[in-house]
Amino acid sequence: MSDMKDITEVQSQDLQKEHHKYVVELGDWQRSHNCGQLSLKNDGESVCLMGWVQYRRDHGGLIFVDLRDREGLTQVVFSPDIAPEAHENAHILRSEYVLAVKGRVRPRPEGMVNPNMPTGEIEVVVLEWKLLNTSKTPPFPIEDRTDAGENLRLAWRYLDLRRPRMQANLFLRHKVAQASRRFLDEQGFIEVETPVLTKSTPEGARDFLVPSRLNNGSFYALPQSPQLFKQLLMVAGFERYFQIVRCFRDEDLRADRQPEFTQVDMEMSFVTENQVMSMAEGLVARVFHDVMGKDLETPFPRMTWDEAMSRYGVDKPDTRFGLELKDITSIVCGSGFKLFASAPLVKAMKVPGGEKLTRKEIDGFTEFVRIYGAQGLAWIKIRENEWQSPIAKFLSDEERRGIAQALDVNVGDIVFFQAGEPAMVNAALGNLRVHLGEYLKLVPENSFNFVWVTDFPLYEYDEEEKRYVACHHPFTSPAPGHLDLMLSDPAATRARAYDMVLNGCEVGGGSIRIHSGEVQRRMFQALGFSDEQAESQFGFLLQALDQGAPPHGGLAFGLDRLVMLLTGASSIRDVIAFPKTQKATCLMTEAPSTVSSKQLRELGLSLREQAGVKSKNVVSAEKS
Ligand code: AMO
Repeated sequence: MSDMKDITEVQSQDLQKEHHKYVVELGDWQRSHNCGQLSLKNDGESVCLMGWVQYRRDHGGLIFVDLRDREGLTQVVFSPDIAPEAHENAHILRSEYVLAVKGRVRPRPEGMVNPNMPTGEIEVVVLEWKLLNTSKTPPFPIEDRTDAGENLRLAWRYLDLRRPRMQANLFLRHKVAQASRRFLDEQGFIEVETPVLTKSTPEGARDFLVPSRLNNGSFYALPQSPQLFKQLLMVAGFERYFQIVRCFRDEDLRADRQPEFTQVDMEMSFVTENQVMSMAEGLVARVFHDVMGKDLETPFPRMTWDEAMSRYGVDKPDTRFGLELKDITSIVCGSGFKLFASAPLVKAMKVPGGEKLTRKEIDGFTEFVRIYGAQGLAWIKIRENEWQSPIAKFLSDEERRGIAQALDVNVGDIVFFQAGEPAMVNAALGNLRVHLGEYLKLVPENSFNFVWVTDFPLYEYDEEEKRYVACHHPFTSPAPGHLDLMLSDPAATRARAYDMVLNGCEVGGGSIRIHSGEVQRRMFQALGFSDEQAESQFGFLLQALDQGAPPHGGLAFGLDRLVMLLTGASSIRDVIAFPKTQKATCLMTEAPSTVSSKQLRELGLSLREQAGVKSKNVVSAEKS
């Protein structure tokens, strides 16, 4: 192979221009096969393939091109002996040129067979070809293994999407959406579209607002989800609704969050939790069956929110590995170690074999838990006849016995401790647990562990706003018997809400809704709304609930998250065709962008003077 010349070198613009004169129309040529299809079974057949040049190699007079389309690669050969005319100009071909070839399938010569390629046993000898377009040299090679940074990939997204892995991700996404649609249709759900320009209503995140030209000073909001509309469709009597729908939330972004994302959203009338949950399990099982060829065991295990927080420290437990947390507050409440003695909650997590962790690694974990508000991270290494730890000397024999028993410690383990306010303790140790699961490679590959988390609190206290806010959303029904607690003891009120968690990621969430106007008013009251505020923001909902609303409930899956987990992608950006960056920008279109002052005037808006912003806007106004 040493005499083969790889000529996918940098192409100059001049060269592209020069080559462009060879470009011709497609005419009446039609593909007979795709580039992933041909095998020895097609030996001798005349075929027509179209696609992009992946590589070109010149080899002893022969020119080889790997032709790529969405289905795969096929080697095509230009031979001066067999088709001199076709061979004549083939040397102009470069990476990403668009090509149509007509030719004959033949077995590859001995020694040239590529067992790693589905089409690796054959090649197509080109008899005729058309150059359909040229291409500048792509900023990164169009192949799965790339060291191109994500920003470069996002700026050239249509090239990034040519890479086989990205194509596979989007094909799988399509299949998941289709399987969901098929299932829901078969179950009697009807697909109804709901507005994208709607009313700003609180649902936890910040709204994206759209100023109204016809009603200056008023704004639409983009929906955070179709929550209220799907409830209104239940009031309207549709009984089973679904929609694969875009949702918009102006929140801080993470690997599993985008400002616009897609839900598989559903709602049912005359149901309780169990029916919604088993319908949702049915949908996921169907997706796994149709798309992954896997049969899931249903029903999925269930765990109350209290249990999840107690054992895992988070409300989306990753149940693929152990390292469960243990509450040792009562064991150390009289401890000589002041931090433990005075803390409202002390929890511990045993890592079997963790005694080998170095000081540097432990320091790294200590830094990690600081993200969650922890001051530090206490630890004890369990050694033969010795507990090695900066805190061991403060613990009495009885406390040691208690800890050893509660955690069932063995020589070679390390135990991590966290003490303080429950929210911090759980967040710090719960997230450290997930981090250690990955760090220590405790997570088995290719396992899909589903769990339902149920019995959420109805409210959570918002420190910033100094009031209770809805844990799910304010339309979630309180648990049976908890109606009176809504106002008297909000912290103790439980919700008829459930989340579906897969491998530690919340892939879906829903609830049984409030269907009584009176209860809904009480909910708003508990959230600190005056009657007038409730009427002005949610009058339409309150009215609807007073018009014979049936009992109803539903759930929404995060389609992007589900597909991310099914493809093994590490970010939802890899399963969204045109995602935004962490700063909510599109590097390809450069959205968001400034608009002309004429556009602003029409909307009745003016920008506050801000360094850079105003002048940029004037520039764009002049351009327009
Ligand atoms: P919730 O807010 O839990 O519920 O959203 C449902 C599911 O949508 C996904 N999700 C997201 N995915 C990507 N980026 C985001 N920013 C994002 N936010 C949420 C999650 C989540 O489980 N109306 C209710 C549903 C209902 O009660 O029926 C709702 O939107 O996977």
